[in-house]
Amino acid sequence: MHPPVIDDLEPALDEAARLLRQALRVAALTGAGVSAESGVPTFRGADGLWEGHRVEEVATPMAFRDNPELVWRFYNQRRERLTAVQPNPGHFALAELEAKHFQDGRFTLVTQNVDGLHRQAGSRRVLELHGNLRRTRCTGCAEIKDRGLEPLGDLPECGQCGELLRPDIVWFHEMLPEDAWEAAAEAAATCELFLVVGTSAVVYPAASLIPAARRSGAKIVEINLAATDASHAADVCLHGPSGVILPELVKRIRDKNQPHRVQRT
Ligand code: OAD
Repeated sequence: MHPPVIDDLEPALDEAARLLRQALRVAALTGAGVSAESGVPTFRGADGLWEGHRVEEVATPMAFRDNPELVWRFYNQRRERLTAVQPNPGHFALAELEAKHFQDGRFTLVTQNVDGLHRQAGSRRVLELHGNLRRTRCTGCAEIKDRGLEPLGDLPECGQCGELLRPDIVWFHEMLPEDAWEAAAEAAATCELFLVVGTSAVVYPAASLIPAARRSGAKIVEINLAATDASHAADVCLHGPSGVILPELVKRIRDKNQPHRVQRT
């Protein structure tokens, strides 16, 4: 039996802050919604990123094999858009949780986002499950390079071996990076509190971290504009923009003396 979900904002914020203060280890799973207030479009929804493209056209290995120009045009456009984007208060609040309230590796940020904004906001322990738009990977020698947001051209080639580069993004039908996935699963299994922020929780295996954390005894706090597939598993749902809710939550942690932390047995 799940405890009742609290979704009236003020008491829900207080309850989420209480759970956060009690936790020794915290993990967060973020999705496109956390970057929405920075101006990065989400994937699903009215003006979602896939609109105008079918996922299969731009985000699968088959698409890249059949039409690399189209795929690179899509990703170059996303890279270019990022040059005008900055982290928002939600990103900074998550970075503060790690830097000031859950130090010494007790905060793990698992993200499905490929925009690099968590690191830009100062988060350090970031597990990028779906890759990063700023990196390229060679289809020949497999070299991975951080290219920042420099323009790459229509069909960029590897400086080492001359083969075609691809974005270092995990496409549909591809495996997640093993190290990041294992560390994320470990964080979900060992935290006392699992924050689920700005994700529709429909893409697997990332979304499976939520029930995994719950099965291991973690409390689940969801922050999203609306209810999602993960809401039924949440102890507290905070409905609103993460750029407002996360700073509010962190403020409540900052303002109060930390009571005795309970450890999971
Ligand atoms: P989605 O576009 O599926 O979901 C975005 C979620 O963010 C929705 O639940 C929105 O309600 C919520 N949202 C929007 N604005 C918000 C805000 N300001 N504050 C809080 N929540 C907000 O994006 P993801 O769940 O990240 O994968 O999608 C997961 C994966 O699907 C992506 O990583 C991508 C995509 O296919 C790959 O490219 C491999």
